[in-house]
Amino acid sequence: MNPDRDAVHDRYATAARRALAGENTGLLAGEGDAERLGAVHYAGAELPVEVTATSLGCGNPLAVAELKPGETVLDLGSGGGLDVLLSARRVGPGGRAIGLDMTDDMLTLARRNAEQAGVTNAEFLKGTIEQIPLPDASVDVVISNCVIALSSDKPAVFGEIARVLRPGGRLGITDILADDSLTDAERAARAGAVECLGGALTADRYRTLLHDAGLSGVDVQLTHETGDKLHSAIIRATKPVRVVAMTDNHADQVLAIYQAGLDTGQASFETTAPAWEAWDAAHLPEHRLVALDPAGRVIGWAAASAVSSRCVYAGVVEHSVYVDPAAQGRGVGQALLAALIDSTEDAGIWTIQSGVFPENTASRELHRRAGFREIGVRERVGQHHGVWRDVVMIERRSSRVGS
Ligand SMILES: C[S@@+](CC[C@H](N)C(=O)[O-])C[C@H]1O[C@@H](n2cnc3c(N)ncnc32)[C@H](O)[C@@H]1O
Repeated sequence: MNPDRDAVHDRYATAARRALAGENTGLLAGEGDAERLGAVHYAGAELPVEVTATSLGCGNPLAVAELKPGETVLDLGSGGGLDVLLSARRVGPGGRAIGLDMTDDMLTLARRNAEQAGVTNAEFLKGTIEQIPLPDASVDVVISNCVIALSSDKPAVFGEIARVLRPGGRLGITDILADDSLTDAERAARAGAVECLGGALTADRYRTLLHDAGLSGVDVQLTHETGDKLHSAIIRATKPVRVVAMTDNHADQVLAIYQAGLDTGQASFETTAPAWEAWDAAHLPEHRLVALDPAGRVIGWAAASAVSSRCVYAGVVEHSVYVDPAAQGRGVGQALLAALIDSTEDAGIWTIQSGVFPENTASRELHRRAGFREIGVRERVGQHHGVWRDVVMIERRSSRVGS
């Protein structure tokens, strides 16, 4: 029994039953509500108006979640299911779009909306956001629209988000936040949790709780006013990837990921990964890193080699970074590069350099984001499978070492 949660449940069960009967949900009837909340955020969405009319959100989390085909997305407190239906279209048949809600009538409404919208790859689960009925590390993206403010146990919600996200997975939600100026007395005077306000966090408290749950890159942006001393906000965060020092025990997995990269034909002039002894001899022992999934499996690696034995180049290394194809697009490469930069800078290295095939746009973008610059293109510098290839020379000059 949780009286706050029961009150929230009853309120949304009534709203869902009204929507199922073809009536207005009755929850957004206040002055100006229609301009700030609900369907207004879905102008242009390719869904029937009867479906968008059931929105009880305070923004559109899909505008920030940047979903990709094949991803698994989870919507916390999915209500009429609008965001799940739109997600299902973006992740496509190879992905999963899951809505979670504790209110049976809302789940019925969401399934009816899915049918009306002709969406077949959306799933709706019953459960609470404080105890998500999904396995660890099973979700790429968590979204939510105007729900977390209603929870009476937010640390539990954020802990569950961190648990179900895969390393490198991300959170992109909209929620109602309280302004710093909202006093305890004003908070108490409002109607409590069911009005969103009683439980609305301030931006600072939101950041702290997400950090405490182990999420990183937390970004909170207020978007529009939704009531007196209340704002709608977009909140983003990422589940960090675990990066540790590489050991000989990782050798087989490191070489398998290397080979998978070489097989793409876009990673290197090499075509076959060497034996471990040769790889080991070619790389500096102190700058070898692996990214691990929660089960301890290697999902990527980064390493560096000396470029010259001349002492003038003692602070210059050439690097490699490879990510398991199954773990790409989740921030693994970014985490590895960040760790390699730290490791090399701590050792007094001022330049990391490498070459990238021009066609490898993902690698070029990854390096650009990590502070690398493209120096120029070496044209037709070597043959790969009998074809002359260009190479883009990239480098990152440290701002804290050797300046
Ligand atoms: C304000 S509505 C938002 C619905 C939907 N996200 C939208 O944008 O239309 C809140 C929804 O969250 C659900 N909900 C509230 N607290 C919940 C909890 N602790 N666990 C699971 N669902 C919850 C309610 O049943 C309701 O459907």
